[in-house]
Amino acid sequence: MTQAEPIVFNPLDPGFRVDPYPVYRRLLAEDPVHETPFGRVFSRYEDCVAVLKDHRHWSSDIRNAAQPGFEPPMGDFLDVAGRPFLFLDPPDHTRLRRLVSKAFTPRVVETLRPRIQQIVDELLDAVAEKGSFEVIEDLAYPVPVVVISEMLGVPPGDHETFRGWSRELAQALDPNPFIDAETVRRRLAAIESFDEYFRRLIAERKKEPRDDLLSALIAAEEEGDRLTEPELLSTARLILIAGHETTVNLIGNGTLALLRHPDQLRLLRDDPSLAKSAVEEVLRYDPPVQYTGRIAVEEVEVAGAQFKPGQSVVTLIGAANRDPAQFEDPERFDITRDDDRHLAFGFGIHYCLGAPLARVEGQIALSALVRRFDGLELLVDRPEYGKNIVLRGLAALPVGFSGAAAAAN
Ligand code: HEM
Repeated sequence: MTQAEPIVFNPLDPGFRVDPYPVYRRLLAEDPVHETPFGRVFSRYEDCVAVLKDHRHWSSDIRNAAQPGFEPPMGDFLDVAGRPFLFLDPPDHTRLRRLVSKAFTPRVVETLRPRIQQIVDELLDAVAEKGSFEVIEDLAYPVPVVVISEMLGVPPGDHETFRGWSRELAQALDPNPFIDAETVRRRLAAIESFDEYFRRLIAERKKEPRDDLLSALIAAEEEGDRLTEPELLSTARLILIAGHETTVNLIGNGTLALLRHPDQLRLLRDDPSLAKSAVEEVLRYDPPVQYTGRIAVEEVEVAGAQFKPGQSVVTLIGAANRDPAQFEDPERFDITRDDDRHLAFGFGIHYCLGAPLARVEGQIALSALVRRFDGLELLVDRPEYGKNIVLRGLAALPVGFSGAAAAAN
């Protein structure tokens, strides 16, 4: 009998990036608390939830890390520039999240539906005559960027200015052991550029407040000790980047999954009421955020393993979403599944603030895409993935079509 190959969990491996799911299957079945140089990796749904819901034992603040390679390379700078609340614990996390959460409730987001539909229709009108287009550049990227910029109050013409900075900082989510001094320098420069940009915009809004999120945050800052200037800047940066770099991958990964499962594409085309469950299934099946991490702040046990303060762990969302103990036939892409218990948006106090917005954007974009184009097909067999480790998304997705219909209204 041949001995099984050891499991290699290496997010830097190009093959892994194309398809990490065979490794996840083995982790789930054979080694659900997997030892790696950057901490233990949890793949089971139950264990990931146990960590994410327990913010008393598990911190999101990297300053609590005590492992070699996990020293925050931008630590001091971030303390001056402001830490986004994604990387903070209560009470600061609670206070900062509360200030922006009103703008992202499902009820508020529903009011944005007509505008999101209009943005999607215009983008698809622009390619309808062409016979082919590139889904990421022509649809998936601009939709969330325009929407989040309008919510925040960033002039629409400025997207190109901060596209590069946003890319740079999205990569800062990847584990520190993989970065070098030059990367750190570029990231710090991107933060400075963002802050310079926002300082100018904030000065304008202070003179002339508008009905946008930035003006609301400025009002909170001006009220006194609810929000400092670095907090205002880091919150604006967080929302702009989160709005840029994640939903693009929901639309991109969703388009690819539908094209690779033509029966599911037909189902959605024939029954638009499936848009909601289709988006939940894309989020489960190929999540845009593949994992997140936490750091123990007290002694704690998970799945029989002991952790000491300072130890980091990874919760593998992409694996947990295919845990057979939670999802029947988890490898099957089935848009009628109607199960939103996936961990694509995390769990617990850091549960994605933008989830209602991302869902609506995904529903509108994927529905319009399958409804408007006949004979939609992939123009490459193996589309290329972007460089990020934590964020899973395609660099480009060229598609062809045989006919295009006009927008619905
Ligand atoms: C499909 C798209 C998206 C996915 C898959 C996604 C995923 C996630 C995940 C997994 C977390 C939790 C991270 C953790 O616990 O460590 C998170 C947090 C967050 N997301 Fe999203 N996100 C998406 C879209 C958005 C959008 C459009 C916004 C726009 C505002 C946004 C804003 C945030 C913020 C502010 C947090 C931090 C919440 C906190 O720390 O309390 N996300 N997201």
